Amino acid sequence: MTILVTGGAGFIGANFVHSWLGSHSETLINLDKLTYAGNLANLTGLETDPRYQFIHGDIADRALVSNLLTTHQPTAVLNFAAESHVDRSIQSPGAFIQTNIVGVFNLLEEVRGYWQGLAELARDQFRFLQISTDEVYGTLTPTDPAFSETTPYRPNSPYAASKAAADHLVRAYHHTYGLPTLTTNCSNNYGPYQYPEKLIPLLLLNALAGKPLPIYGNGTNIRDWLYVTDHCEAIQVVLAQGRVGETYNIGGNNEKTNLEVVHTLCDLLAEIKPRDYQALIQFVPDRPGHDLRYAIDATKITQELGWWPRMTFEQGLRATVGWYLEHPHWVDSIISGEYQHWVATQYQGQS
Ligand code: NAD
Ligand code: DAU
Repeated sequence: MTILVTGGAGFIGANFVHSWLGSHSETLINLDKLTYAGNLANLTGLETDPRYQFIHGDIADRALVSNLLTTHQPTAVLNFAAESHVDRSIQSPGAFIQTNIVGVFNLLEEVRGYWQGLAELARDQFRFLQISTDEVYGTLTPTDPAFSETTPYRPNSPYAASKAAADHLVRAYHHTYGLPTLTTNCSNNYGPYQYPEKLIPLLLLNALAGKPLPIYGNGTNIRDWLYVTDHCEAIQVVLAQGRVGETYNIGGNNEKTNLEVVHTLCDLLAEIKPRDYQALIQFVPDRPGHDLRYAIDATKITQELGWWPRMTFEQGLRATVGWYLEHPHWVDSIISGEYQHWVATQYQGQS
C-alpha cells in the first residue's frame, strides 16, 4: 500500500507527512518541486525511513507523474502542492495559474488514466484528495453566517481564483469521469515549519528580532485559525471515511482579528522573553482586495466523520512559539536568501 503526496516539503504537507508516517505503515511518496516554499529541512529524520521516498519534480510534468503512478501504484493521491501566498499572487499571479490550475489539470489527467486502468476493486478504493482553502468562498461581513460546503465560490485574489479553478476541475473529474475525489476547504493554518511570509511566523520572527510588526490596514480583518496538526488529522479522517465526490470544510472555530492575533502573540512573547513587543506594531498599507472575514462552519465533518479541532488558539500559539524558538537553525536557513528579497519587495523597508 502506497500513497502519493504532492507538496509534502511545504508547511502543511510536511506536517502531514510526519503525522502520516507516525501512524501508518504504508509507503509515502512525496513529489515536490522545491519552490522557495519547499524545504527538505522540514522532513529531517525521514531520509532513512524505508517507508518514505522523496521525488523532486513538478505536478505539471505529466511524464514524471505518469511514471510515478505506474511504478508505485498508489491507493490515493493527496494534492497539497500549490503556490499559496496571497500577497505573492497579487505581485506575480502567473506561477499561481501554472501550478494551481495547469498543474492540477495535468495531475488529474494522469491520475484519471491511471485510475481507469486499475482493476475494479482498486478503482473503487482509490481516492484523489484535493487540499483546498476557505478563500475560494470570498469574504464575509462581520454578521454573515460562516462558510458552509454549499456557499457559492466567489474568490477575490488571484490565489483564491486559482484554487477555485482547481476545485472546479476536481469536481468535474468526479462528475464526468467518476474519479473518486474528495475536497477539503480549510481555514488559516499555523504551527511548525510555516514559511515566515505568513502572518503568525512573520510577526513572531520580527518580534524576536525587534523589527516592526506590519499590520495591513486597520487590523480588523478576521481569520479562523487552526493549528496545523488538527488540519492534518482532519485530512486523514476525510481520506479514510469521506464520501466520494463530497467536499468538507475544516476550521478552527476560532475567529480572531489580526489585532487580536498580534496582541496575543506579543503578550505570550513578553512572558517568555520580556520586552514591550506591542510597541513594535506598525500599521502599513492594506493588501489590495483584502478579504474582511473568513469563518468556517465545520458541522459537516464533525457530524459525519467525528472530527473537531483539539488545540485552542492559546495552546497552539504557545506550541508554535516554542517550536520556532527551539529551531534556530531552521529559522536562520529560511530567513537568509530568497526571504530577504521577498521582505524587501513586499514591505519596502517597513520591516
Ligand atoms: P506552502 O507554500 O508552504 O507549500 C507548498 C508546497 O508545494 C511547497 O513545498 C512547494 O515546493 C510545493 N510546490 C509548489 N508548486 C509545485 C509544483 N508545481 N509541483 C510540485 N510541488 C510544488 O503551502 P501550505 O501552506 O503548506 O499549503 C498547502 C496546501 O494547503 C495548498 O494547496 C494551500 O492552498 C492549502 N491551504 C493552505 C492553508 C494555509 O493556511 N497555509 C489553509 C488552507 C489550505
Ligand atoms: O484562509 C486560508 C488561507 O490562509 C490559505 O489558503 C492561504 O494559503 C494562506 O496563506 C492564508 O491566507 P491569508 O491571506 O489569510 O494569510 P496571511 O498569513 O497572508 O494573512 C493573514 C491575515 O493577516 C490577513 O488578513 C492579512 C494579514 N496580514 C498578513 C501579512 C503577511 C497582515 O496584516 N500583515 C502581514 O504582513
